[in-house]
Amino acid sequence: MKKRIIFCFFLSACIINIYAQQIKPAIPSDPNIEAQVEKTLSKMTLEEKIGQMCEITVDVITDVPKSKNGFKISDTKLDEVIGKYKVGSILNVPLSIAQTPEVWAQSICQINKKSMEAIQIPDIYGVDQMHGTTYTMGGTLFPQEINQASSFNRHIPFRVSEICAYETKAGLIPWVYAPVMDLGRQPAWSRMWESYGEDCYLNSEMAQQAVRGFQGENPNKIGPYNVAACLKHYMAYGVPNSGKDRTPSSVSDREMREKFFMPFMNAVRAGALSLMVNSSTNDGIPFHANKKFLTDWLKKGLNWDGMIVTDWADINNLCVRDHIVATKKDAIEIAINAGIDMSMVPYELSFCDDLKALVQEGRVSMDRIDDAVRRILRLKYRCNLFDTKTWDNPKKIIKNYPDFGSAKFAAEALKITEESEVLLKNTDNILPLARGKRILLTGPNSNTMRGLLGGWSYSWQGDKAEDCATKYNTIYEALCNKYGKDFVTLVEGVSYKKSGNWEDEDASQINEAVEAATNCDVIIACIGENSYAETPGNLTDLTLSKNQRELIKALAQTRKPVILILNEGRPRIIEEIEPLSKAVIDIMLPGNYGGDALANLLAGDANFSAKLPFTYPHKINAIATYDYKPCENMGQMDGNYNYDSVMDVQWMFGYGLSYTHYKYSNLKVDKSNFTADDNLTFNVDVTNTGERVGKEPVLLFIGDMVASITPDNIRLRGFEKIELQPGETKTVSIKIKGSDLAFVGADNKWILEKGRFYVKCGDQQIFINCTDTHKWESQNID
Ligand code: BGC
Repeated sequence: MKKRIIFCFFLSACIINIYAQQIKPAIPSDPNIEAQVEKTLSKMTLEEKIGQMCEITVDVITDVPKSKNGFKISDTKLDEVIGKYKVGSILNVPLSIAQTPEVWAQSICQINKKSMEAIQIPDIYGVDQMHGTTYTMGGTLFPQEINQASSFNRHIPFRVSEICAYETKAGLIPWVYAPVMDLGRQPAWSRMWESYGEDCYLNSEMAQQAVRGFQGENPNKIGPYNVAACLKHYMAYGVPNSGKDRTPSSVSDREMREKFFMPFMNAVRAGALSLMVNSSTNDGIPFHANKKFLTDWLKKGLNWDGMIVTDWADINNLCVRDHIVATKKDAIEIAINAGIDMSMVPYELSFCDDLKALVQEGRVSMDRIDDAVRRILRLKYRCNLFDTKTWDNPKKIIKNYPDFGSAKFAAEALKITEESEVLLKNTDNILPLARGKRILLTGPNSNTMRGLLGGWSYSWQGDKAEDCATKYNTIYEALCNKYGKDFVTLVEGVSYKKSGNWEDEDASQINEAVEAATNCDVIIACIGENSYAETPGNLTDLTLSKNQRELIKALAQTRKPVILILNEGRPRIIEEIEPLSKAVIDIMLPGNYGGDALANLLAGDANFSAKLPFTYPHKINAIATYDYKPCENMGQMDGNYNYDSVMDVQWMFGYGLSYTHYKYSNLKVDKSNFTADDNLTFNVDVTNTGERVGKEPVLLFIGDMVASITPDNIRLRGFEKIELQPGETKTVSIKIKGSDLAFVGADNKWILEKGRFYVKCGDQQIFINCTDTHKWESQNID
């Protein structure tokens, strides 16, 4: 009996192994790099290997003289961190504020010289460059990812990341913690704006482009103008049940694979070299302890040879926060065995001592350590960090980056920003707003760079923006430039307090704003949120602040037309005040060129072309996404009960207006009957019937009529953005595969079921028919 069990075990191990070998590597390996990795690994001691798995924040190695400004990387501290503990990676920005490329290059050279001297292995420095160069002073800051997604233009995340990589490398930083790929499906979440919105396909498409922009075309050869990307946060971080950051989600394996894993899979297959883990827990299991997700689904399931890093202190959190183990040492055992390769510790070097003891006690195997270290070394070789010449001449580096912070990048950023602000309402075509009108500009976001930029801008919370972004225009400055100073009166009415909590407001000027309105023709009210990031941005009420609502209500009483500009990281509920407005523009977090782009759009010098990448809620208890289930939207007569569960949203995902109009016609498909292997081409004619040139994102939605797992109402399956002159028609072709319409069934395997699907594009609708059920035996569709 015992023999039989051993044999069965052996057999299944062989099958799993053969299966793993059959999976095409997500990133093709480079034999030269592999040989170098093995050679280096073979010479390393256990302490050196463990040190490579440790990542420390830069605060641990800096001296900050009290009397003077600035900081110094301390040689003595480097002796401890790299000399003694052989630490392989440093992260974060010195002094918690953006540094010039010269300072970066100098610091990184100093660290790397030490590292090469002490352990003959370079350090890999990682930085959060989130919408452009968050932490490199003088670089280009673009709209946040939520804005980039609203463009529905794949070129935008590509170009933003490409420019960001170039400017990041001007300071010799080789590794960025981006793109963020959390599906922003919980609008209260304080990191909603860091994501590409609620849809998994849109996320997948945008993130793949970002990876290519950051890394260039060959992930084995990260060039001088590229950086390694780090996808984050793996996975389902964007759906905390409570809406608060780093709190539990409850996603089933089925939904996890279908919606949350899929974008990561595609970005990994696009060559992403590293990945950061979701800080939180799902169904009671912290992601940092989840071997199934880290090792089985990701590393083995995709045959991916990249590197997994934790988020900030998240191994410790398994003990001190999540209580799944009693000691920090036990936490390290669980996390490393689950598949973590590098721990963003970020302060406690005791990680190294504990991990060494765990190996000596046989609780973490040498094989696991070698696997982790191979992945780290591979990343360093891929980034060409062993080329020591790089660390010789920090002062000259910037000369190789003549476009750093250039007017050329600024011009691109402005155009990108114009494509990222969404027109949601335009009653009686009140917009564009002609010159010559007297404007009252009001609201707490009307004269602040902090509001336009949001978090991860010069500092983590974005709270240093007023000092760092002086050369850029607030909305007030941009409107004065556009309409003339004499035509713009600024009375904020409500303002954000300069110190204290990001939410704190001063509402003492409401009457003054109302008074000023009487002398104006139109009121532009810039409302929303001040900057924040992560847990400090947690909310208990998604409704826009009471002060700001009061301001709008008071202004509306003047009967002057009100234009609402929403400048916010998440859709704050405006149910009460939206009906009081003539027009609404959601500029979200548009960055340094947000004011200028808005002025161009308001004046009609540019046209709107963005659409919401999330569903804007109308009421607090009616949070929904566009891919809802049928029972979420039943009239009273549907089903066997009086459901009365209808979609009541302010604006649905994909909604957005323009100054021109588009007519859709002739939606056709080349195969109305299809199977999983078929390629389908949809063609639709789109005509610009208005008088202005415009860009239109053409969105292809497909819904499964009947499926064994209750089907989503509809799903975005393709999109293309086109430009049309007035009167011009273009035929837009969107190609998908039959297998793209599969879903994950009850047994956690992908399946495409026979039956009818409806296809929607603009106001056009057709049906297609799947003639053959196909089930995938492997976990992923290749
Ligand atoms: C955030 C990550 C970030 C890391 C390093 C964490 O608090 O969750 O997104 O990359 O800090 O700064």
